[in-house]
Amino acid sequence: MPTRKRAVGGAVRAAKVVSPEDGPAAVYPGSFDPITNGHIDIIRRALRVFPRVTVAVAYNPNKDAAMFTPPERVAMIEQALADVGDRVIADSFTGLLVDYAERIGAQVLIRGLRAVSDFEYEFQMTMMNRHLKPNIETVFMMAGEQYFYTSSRLVKEVATFGGDVRTLVPDFVMDRFAERLAKKSAEKRRG
Ligand code: PNS
Repeated sequence: MPTRKRAVGGAVRAAKVVSPEDGPAAVYPGSFDPITNGHIDIIRRALRVFPRVTVAVAYNPNKDAAMFTPPERVAMIEQALADVGDRVIADSFTGLLVDYAERIGAQVLIRGLRAVSDFEYEFQMTMMNRHLKPNIETVFMMAGEQYFYTSSRLVKEVATFGGDVRTLVPDFVMDRFAERLAKKSAEKRRG
């Protein structure tokens, strides 16, 4: 399989280019701030259908109120899916998702669905992406029922206030939360 250079959060590294013989190239986009067990469930489901999945962290350099930087989020995705080797490529992008998908040669966008409440937002995004690039398809995967209430936003909020989210994120993400909270309280003490 050929390789090409790609930028990941500023660093340049060699990435596998998915050739058409490998099957349709799929992108699973999101904020992943941080990756949760719900995301990991969707990625593993997607790997049953697609030979390779690019997990792409979307960020806006002018307006990113995220807890973790794009390179930190990419590193957490890589760590969470280390066991599947090069079947998962973690990357980050800014700008339109469909432009990114086209740049890396992906024809399929994967999105996870939890409850009916996700549907309207997902429907709007799918239709807008289809309007922009009619040749790119969106495929939905249902999250495992144990993750129906898991979202990065809620997990972050609960962890920030000391709530127990140990079953909802990988252990190393718990460690990152602890580091982040310790850093914040040290900053507060310093004033
Ligand atoms: O983790 P999220 O918030 O559910 O992911 C949303 C995401 C990142 C997929 C969406 O905001 C997105 O595609 N952002 C990139 C910019 C873009 O293409 N916006 C138009 C979407 S129709």
